[in-house]
Amino acid sequence: MNEEQRLASQQVNTKSTSTAEKDYSKYFQSVYAAPSLKDAKRRGKEEVQYHKDFKIDEKFRGMGTGRKFLIRTYGCQMNEHDTEVMAGIFIQLGYEPTEDVKEANVILMNTCAIRENAENRVFGELGHLKPLKRENPDLLIGVCGCMSQEEAVVKKILKTYDQVDMIFGTHNIHRLPEILNEAYLSKEMVVEVWSKEGDIIENLPKVRKGHTKAWVNIMYGCDKFCTYCIVPYTRGKERSRLPEDIIQEVRSLAAQGYKEITLLGQNVNAYGKDFENRNYRLGDLMDELRLIDIPRIRFTTSHPRDFDDHLIEVLAKKGNLVEHIHLPVQSGSSDMLKIMARKYTRESYLELVKKIRKVMPDVALTTDIIVGFPNETEEQFEETLSLYKEVGFEMAYTYVYSPREGTPAAKMKDNVPLEVKKDRLQRLNKVVNEYCAEALKKYDGQIVEVLVEGESKKNPEVLAGYTRKNKLVNFVAPKEVIGELVKVKITDAKTWSLQGEFIEVVSSQEVKA
Ligand code: SAH
Ligand code: SF4
Ligand code: F3S
Repeated sequence: MNEEQRLASQQVNTKSTSTAEKDYSKYFQSVYAAPSLKDAKRRGKEEVQYHKDFKIDEKFRGMGTGRKFLIRTYGCQMNEHDTEVMAGIFIQLGYEPTEDVKEANVILMNTCAIRENAENRVFGELGHLKPLKRENPDLLIGVCGCMSQEEAVVKKILKTYDQVDMIFGTHNIHRLPEILNEAYLSKEMVVEVWSKEGDIIENLPKVRKGHTKAWVNIMYGCDKFCTYCIVPYTRGKERSRLPEDIIQEVRSLAAQGYKEITLLGQNVNAYGKDFENRNYRLGDLMDELRLIDIPRIRFTTSHPRDFDDHLIEVLAKKGNLVEHIHLPVQSGSSDMLKIMARKYTRESYLELVKKIRKVMPDVALTTDIIVGFPNETEEQFEETLSLYKEVGFEMAYTYVYSPREGTPAAKMKDNVPLEVKKDRLQRLNKVVNEYCAEALKKYDGQIVEVLVEGESKKNPEVLAGYTRKNKLVNFVAPKEVIGELVKVKITDAKTWSLQGEFIEVVSSQEVKA
């Protein structure tokens, strides 16, 4: 342990707890401790245990009676889904949900650490919450999610944000009842962050947002260690859920009437790599899931490296497997990809795209790109622009590189000025917009299938939903079609969305066909 870590561990509340379950005793030494990125980097050989008997201790059941909770969520779908689990736990504890910070008795910030601006937003928000604490002494404020896994963040909160009552990480959200209980009893800030990932806990309660689309975790963690990325440190090693548990969850969601499932993982193509006794990968899982009676199944996020032939073969069977693949490329320069440790080249990425298009000619490809990685040259950036055009991506999330403390890239010297990075982002975004508008223009006059999500954000008279290829469609129709699959005739294509005329609800026979 270095000096900084020693100081950090002295600052935290080191009280032991009598409320932790027996099952988790092997983690006792790391309970009530600050995180360590160095420990988080380790990848142990121990087999993942699956716990299927999650239960909230009876003594906590009434904890939330007469109290309300609010969770603010930042970051990716993984965090959105963790929020659904925490909301499920709150409800079982007797809390009621609220959207109003003034009414809330517990406020949780489920945070994201991916870029600096994501973190700054959270610190800003924590500042705004301070006066509430004075008005309402019963209020508990908690920070959870990926930022909590970073030692620098925990230290900063301990030092300057005394309005925070509890900090816990991504590996122990199932311990929310114990953590809340401790926070009510303790005068000090409660810190419970595990630097080592936990096992897989099944049967956690969930309160899902909406009744149309649902997220289903298929794996946790990431072992790719791209040199710029904090996720392998904040989410731990790759652990796959068992196929039977995933299939059962999707079946149950189908039975409840959900129409679309998004399978979640940081790198879903690594699904099953960690199974010791079975040879079962994402292609095998998709091949079983496609037989379930649910209209749409998608997955995110794909890593080009592990995208195998069997998966491509299965996706080509279509049916409820949608013809949209989000395939982050990050850069079009093989040199950049090498320093990013992406473990593929421009050429092998293009080869993969060709293979996918051969069996799925109408597939929509979207991507993620980072510009201004340390020492990126103008030529290397232009390779990204040319790759974008060569693939013809239909949409992209684009970012200026943000150094993350503890990652190898953060130690690299960088000769690219911020203005140059910002200029590259603008130039890239111009191409992204053009290609997005181009892809949408092709829909003019066509009839598309739309899963109706609800009223449009801009105009409650208009409904909004998405096509199989994830294109946003706005149209006017009776509110009863919310949650249904409908046919819409496209009448106008904008840069980011389509407009159309409602035709009819798609019949269940057609959905199966
Ligand atoms: N697991 C996914 C990505 C998760 S993070 C994958 O590998 O594709 C989502 C996106 O954020 C990444 O694809 C990358 O484009 C971007 N990103 C990650 N770390 C970043 C950093 N340090 N600076 C800027 N963008 C970053
Ligand atoms: Fe980060 Fe790379 Fe893992 Fe994606 S694959 S989460 S970019 S380390
Ligand atoms: Fe952010 Fe953590 Fe997701 S860092 S992108 S919330 S895995």
